[in-house]
Amino acid sequence: MMYVYAGKTALITGASSGIGEVFARGLAKRGMHVVLVARSEEALRKLAAELTKQYGIRSEVIVADLSQEKAAAQVKAAVETRGLHIDMLINNAGMGTYDAFEKLDPERDHQQVMLNVTAVVDLAHAFLPEMAARGEGAMINVSSMAAYMPMPYMAVYAASKAFVLSFSEALSVEYHQRGIRVTALCPGQVETSFHQKTEHPVPRAGATISAQEAVTTALRAMEQGKSSVIPNRMNQASILSTRFMSRIFLAQGAASRLKPQSLKNPTR
Ligand SMILES: NC(=O)c1ccc[n+]([C@@H]2O[C@H](COP(=O)([O-])OP(=O)(O)OC[C@H]3O[C@@H](n4cnc5c(N)ncnc54)[C@H](OP(=O)(O)O)[C@@H]3O)[C@@H](O)[C@H]2O)c1
Repeated sequence: MMYVYAGKTALITGASSGIGEVFARGLAKRGMHVVLVARSEEALRKLAAELTKQYGIRSEVIVADLSQEKAAAQVKAAVETRGLHIDMLINNAGMGTYDAFEKLDPERDHQQVMLNVTAVVDLAHAFLPEMAARGEGAMINVSSMAAYMPMPYMAVYAASKAFVLSFSEALSVEYHQRGIRVTALCPGQVETSFHQKTEHPVPRAGATISAQEAVTTALRAMEQGKSSVIPNRMNQASILSTRFMSRIFLAQGAASRLKPQSLKNPTR
């Protein structure tokens, strides 16, 4: 299945850094107009100006905190005010918390569910109906390899990404006959500033890939009409092997890998 990018418009959440920024650059390079969404206005404006100058496409900035109630409605209103139609929705913005569950700030975990789960559903509701009416569209949701197993000490993050994977795979089938491609991107470790933003360093596992590789793999999977994709063969093999293991065994394995330093050497 071919996908024609040029002249269409993509809305990318979390476009101010990391994977989202690389999505914006890659799509602008392919001739798409881009709508960049995140909280960091300055970074978005700088990127928008650069992309318009470099590729001659239209770049719009919508500053929004997607962890807030009704954020998606505000984004949709801003899109409509500018007279835009969204052909491709990239739900990429996300955050992760890491520590023993009772040490985590409940407010941060609430924001995490709002951002990683609620905003994804709300934005899909905001933009898929008009894609369906036009009989064409695409949505790429950034999940994670964490979607495939319960992860102690990152319980909320892994559960949120499991939601995104399941949600994407289900909608991929619902919308298949209506010309809309839905793809979940499930990377392992990606070289971005994501891990510095969690309060503690998260132990690394599996192959680390570049944001460029993650984006190229996601776009290829979308073009091929795949409902989900794990970039990197080693990471694909490791997830394949988990199919034959019990989920509790997987959770115990993740727990021994992820156990925070503070729990290994508790201070008395
Ligand atoms: N890096 C990895 O190893 C890895 C692995 C698997 C999956 N992922 C997923 O990949 C996605 C992108 O992460 P990344 O690695 O590129 O990390 P990143 O560089 O930290 O980017 C996160 C993006 O999300 C935006 N964002 C965060 N909170 C937001 C909020 N409340 N409202 C609106 N936007 C918000 C950030 O922009 P502002 O701060 O400007 O709002 C930023 O643009 C996430 O969904 C993450 O879970 C990452």
